[in-house]
Amino acid sequence: MGYSGAGKSTLLRLINMLERPDSGQVVIDGTDLTTLSASELRIARHNIGMIFQQFNLMSNQTVFDNVAFNLKISGYPSRDIHKRVMDCLAIVDLTDRAGHYPAQLSGGQKQRVGIARAIAPSPKVLLPMSQPVRLTLQRPVVC
Ligand SMILES: Nc1ncnc2c1ncn2[C@@H]1O[C@H](COP(=O)(O)OP(=O)(O)OP(=O)(O)O)[C@@H](O)[C@H]1O
Ligand SMILES: [Mg+2]
Repeated sequence: MGYSGAGKSTLLRLINMLERPDSGQVVIDGTDLTTLSASELRIARHNIGMIFQQFNLMSNQTVFDNVAFNLKISGYPSRDIHKRVMDCLAIVDLTDRAGHYPAQLSGGQKQRVGIARAIAPSPKVLLPMSQPVRLTLQRPVVC
């Protein structure tokens, strides 16, 4: 919370290192993210979940696949993905929408898919992002 221009978005970008601070440290779970290489940072970001106000869901993927995608890229064991996705969809009360596409959902349901996707890999930190973020071209959702 804070006034417009107070620095909320800047702080969030610093926490997930979308923006690098000129000085100081960004410590998540005991690790200073400013000291990490690009590949180490990619792994450290698995501890940082992002929930997007504009959802950032993949429109050509089902609800199930949107959540599963985040688990796959975080290295979650393949054989456990189905159960974890369904557990997370149950938490946000969307079990019956697993096979639906984002366009078939209400705004609130899309928001809940975004929450299920963010919590699926059990991140240590959850960031409420107000702007969509594209870290790489081939990965339009989260990192
Ligand atoms: N890329 C940038 N370069 C220079 N200054 C910036 C940049 N981005 C934001 N700022 C400035 O930094 C300050 C904080 O901006 P920030 O976007 O973090 O605010 P905010 O709290 O998210 O505001 P809002 O509620 O309006 O989204 C503002 O004064 C803004 O003008
Ligand atoms: Mg902002």
